[in-house]
Amino acid sequence: MMMINETLAALVAKAAEGRSRAYIPYSHYAVGAALLDEDGTIYTGCNVENASYGGTICAERTALVKAVSEGARRFTTICVMTENGGSPCGICRQVLYEFNPDMSVILASPSGAIVKIYTLRDLLPDGFGAEKLP
Ligand code: THU
Repeated sequence: MMMINETLAALVAKAAEGRSRAYIPYSHYAVGAALLDEDGTIYTGCNVENASYGGTICAERTALVKAVSEGARRFTTICVMTENGGSPCGICRQVLYEFNPDMSVILASPSGAIVKIYTLRDLLPDGFGAEKLP
């Protein structure tokens, strides 16, 4: 993965910042995300839960929707921070895949340690994308 340490450190710091804002009265499981656009902008996200549980949105999709609504679309990397190396859920994998199946996915721990690095294609092989539609 081509990324300079400075950018990686910034992404991890932003994922922690996002995670600190998690709204998690039900699960108490805080997730932070930091999504890097190719222009260098980092969009943060956190999970936002709801008393109607299905209304919950994950940190990854929060970051993505924030970014797209601000005009960004070309994402190179997402960093996700959880207490135990949790990886993006299936819905988030699909939603991220729409924008760049080859983006890097970095899992980080609250200490700032990198737990795992893979690409979205690793997480969603043979994914469904726009090219499959008639
Ligand atoms: N969660 C995320 O934010 N991202 C994931 O990819 C997995 C799950 C959140 C949703 C919910 O607020 C909590 O973690 C427990 O499922």
